[in-house]
Amino acid sequence: MPAFIDKITDTLHLSSHKTAFDSKVTVIFVLGGPGAGKGTQCARLVEDFGFCHLSAGDLLRAEQHREGSKYGELIQTCIKEGTIVPMEVTVNLLKNAMSAALAEQRAGDGWADGRGRFLIDGFPRQMDQAEMFERDVGKASAVLFFSTTQEVMLERLLERGKTSGREDDNVESIKKRFNTYKEQTMPVIEHYQKLGKVIEIDSSISIEEVHQKTKAAVTNLLSGST
Ligand code: C5P
Ligand code: MG
Repeated sequence: MPAFIDKITDTLHLSSHKTAFDSKVTVIFVLGGPGAGKGTQCARLVEDFGFCHLSAGDLLRAEQHREGSKYGELIQTCIKEGTIVPMEVTVNLLKNAMSAALAEQRAGDGWADGRGRFLIDGFPRQMDQAEMFERDVGKASAVLFFSTTQEVMLERLLERGKTSGREDDNVESIKKRFNTYKEQTMPVIEHYQKLGKVIEIDSSISIEEVHQKTKAAVTNLLSGST
């Protein structure tokens, strides 16, 4: 293990065997390749169901730019190269964001009596992230998997790149991100498929059609778990 990971683990004190959140908290992982439409659909689901939407990538970008962050450079390099940031950093950011959302004591569906519902978008990207999250934070009820072709994703990312200002929405980084997705993230999806937790939705069609299908699937899921 590289020395810097040891250091990160020390700093974050993540070693407990008890998960941070109990079964009152509903977690849905949202996966799919870069440009598959995860963020777009999550925004719709927030309106439909009152989820707290946490994008791992957005949290990492915020940490990258946070004054005084020790991980700014590391995160920047990983994002540009399309590689996975050491899991301790990302899991801790998610855990903190979840604690903050629960502390707000939100009103509305799914938030009474210490309950909460979360869409964890773009996570887990690699098996070790999945294992660490489920061990230290909580179990996911399901995985929403937005699937489409590499061609569609490339087109969307290049279009987004015209205005996103993201350092990784360029052909060179996109190729690397596709590779990481195939090598590291697909095994995570396959793992959850074996557990029967994956809801796959073809996201090649229009935003509205994907939304309708996703909304139906999530309605079904929440009626079984709350
Ligand atoms: O999900 P998004 O495309 O915004 O992620 C951008 C980058 O953030 C990824 O390519 C990767 O470098 C990093 N990331 C990560 N682990 C995650 C999510 C994102 O390392 N779970
Ligand atoms: Mg996103």
